[in-house]
Amino acid sequence: MTETPTSVLIDGIGTLVTNDPELGEGRTGELADAALVLDGGRVAWAGPRDRAPDADTRVDAAGRCVIPGFVDSHSHIVFAGDRSREFGARMSGRPYEAGGIRTTVAATRAATDAELHARAASLLAEAQAQGTTTLEIKSGYGLSVAEEERALRIAAGLTEEVTFLGAHVVPPEYAGDTDGYVTEVTGPMLDACAPHARWVDVFCERGAFDEEQSRRVLRAGMDRGLLARVHGNQLGEGPGVRLAVEMGAASVDHCTHLAAADVDALAESGRGAADSATVATLLPGVDFSTRQPYPDARALLDAGAVVALAGDCNPGSCFTSSIAFCIALAVREMHMTPEEALWAATAGGARALRRDDVGHLAPGARADLVLLDAPNPVYLAYRPGVPQVAAVWKNGTPLS
Ligand code: NIG
Ligand code: FE
Repeated sequence: MTETPTSVLIDGIGTLVTNDPELGEGRTGELADAALVLDGGRVAWAGPRDRAPDADTRVDAAGRCVIPGFVDSHSHIVFAGDRSREFGARMSGRPYEAGGIRTTVAATRAATDAELHARAASLLAEAQAQGTTTLEIKSGYGLSVAEEERALRIAAGLTEEVTFLGAHVVPPEYAGDTDGYVTEVTGPMLDACAPHARWVDVFCERGAFDEEQSRRVLRAGMDRGLLARVHGNQLGEGPGVRLAVEMGAASVDHCTHLAAADVDALAESGRGAADSATVATLLPGVDFSTRQPYPDARALLDAGAVVALAGDCNPGSCFTSSIAFCIALAVREMHMTPEEALWAATAGGARALRRDDVGHLAPGARADLVLLDAPNPVYLAYRPGVPQVAAVWKNGTPLS
């Protein structure tokens, strides 16, 4: 990524959202009539425009709103094939089941590296054009040593946030022998895959991996230096959330079906050292596309849990790359305030990825930002489905 050789003043910002970490969790810190100075790919200064320092070049935001780029901490964009008919059948009444993942596994295995790379790169570009400046990408549609390693190599060419999800479902070769597959995942598969990844993930759910199998996977990944994250409590209540907290995972994703003890465990995980909380990452696009209830975001927020919003772009449970759409769902359907939803999709995503350089625009942050064709960020939920991204900057440079 090229960085700007000179400093840039973005002037005339109608509303600036900094998410300055000093304001505290969940606070977006809106500033009217603001300016930003970017230098060397980072934010050098943020504040009222009448106090802005000089810079080498000036860009007029013309009253637009500027927000941190979205930090989407959950995607599965290395895949081939098409499951639109499965979605159609679901909308006619069929339930969503983890087994649909195997359809994508067969198509992904049959695809060339170039095909997989082109598809993932185009979905990444689609997400970036809609304001996502950090995107986590998982493997999980290969499910063999060679195929998982291939998916991770492709992901690593597109993002720094690469997640090994060999334990997504049990592949056909191991049908009826989940423990045998876990032995493969925790041994040779992780040996080959860990060097390409930052994260280890597991789908802890009925029909995928049970609590003990999931614990084995996470422990084996952590033993190789990976950080843990978990898919949990998507299709029903279960052990995923509490296992994630027990293992010190950065995030547990979905959280659609939570018991009171799950909410308590998530809230408790942040007491003491807030930065080591297990974040509850909510994926409302999945609940929308699978006709599930929405997670109880209010219970989580009111208990003091750290909440993130992410997209989960994948061909089965949720084929959207729009974080603005997820924000609109979170506000309308999950009773998050517009401020809570925007924080969750930016600073919350950063927390779920244990990153302090993205998700905010305080001095020192990466200059990853979005100019919205809107006077303030409430418009993200107020005008659902309407493209409002005027420009996206990454590392201090506009993406074309
Ligand atoms: O996050 N929950 C498991 N994995 C994906 C779905 C993948 C698929 O259906 O292909 C998810 O929803
Ligand atoms: Fe997922």
